Amino acid sequence: MTDASIALADIAEYAAREAGAVAAEGFRTPGLEFSAKSNLHDFVTEYDRRSEIRAREVLAERSPGSRIVGEEDGETGEGPLTWYVDPIDGTSNFARGIALWSVCIAAVRDGEVVAGIVYDPIADHMFRADARGAFLNGKPIRAEGMTQPERATVLATFPPAAMLTTSRTEKLEAHAELQDSYSHVRDFGSAAIGLCHVAAGWADAAFGFGIHAWDVAAGSLILRRAGGVYRGYADGEAQPRDADYLHRHYCGTVADAEFPLLDSIMRLQTRDG
Ligand code: IPD
Repeated sequence: MTDASIALADIAEYAAREAGAVAAEGFRTPGLEFSAKSNLHDFVTEYDRRSEIRAREVLAERSPGSRIVGEEDGETGEGPLTWYVDPIDGTSNFARGIALWSVCIAAVRDGEVVAGIVYDPIADHMFRADARGAFLNGKPIRAEGMTQPERATVLATFPPAAMLTTSRTEKLEAHAELQDSYSHVRDFGSAAIGLCHVAAGWADAAFGFGIHAWDVAAGSLILRRAGGVYRGYADGEAQPRDADYLHRHYCGTVADAEFPLLDSIMRLQTRDG
């Protein structure tokens, strides 16, 4: 599998570089138009669509006979391999000119992520995972950081607006406990960039709710191959590892972290699915 995984990561890297170049053309364009997709917190721009088109062109050419699942154009094709494509993860940042967004591409075979790329064209960060390990611009990375809450930096949008429609006070109190217990809490607005920061040891945990496979499949492999821990949550429980990128809620940490509050937040806040 090693050679196959490397070959798939090479394809994903090329596709992400091409798509990232298309998206970067639109970044900080004066008057860039954006529209609300599902609600006022969820944006889309013409560059999400253009970037996905370019990623799909490369994948169709270099990996014919595959299934592609993309954020903008849904599911196309059939085959033993599935490519998950997020043409811009962090669109709300991209749309306003905040340089925290990336192109994410993951290859999944038999339900398992076997190659993943998170490419930030503005920082020129190519995060990559394949069977050999996790890399940033070709150099190995390790998810080694702060393992005690009082020294740890946590990346999270918590509570997201969508979750505030029920048990609002309970959730805001959980947020206050998080702020009290951890050294720093930051909201990056990009699940993939957050997971890669943990994989590189630049932050210590990242968690989120209501995400999709295209947001986290690549980042989950990058974090794991860097030695960190990725968990999908549903129904108030951490889920078995199989295909866990399909769960809508996640928490990732550096190696050997002891963050019980994060696990309890995840369990409590995912009781309803
Ligand atoms: C979003 C980002 C954000 C997360 C949202 C995602 P998008 O992805 O990853 O951090 O909180 O749930 O939808 O829409 O910018 O690709």
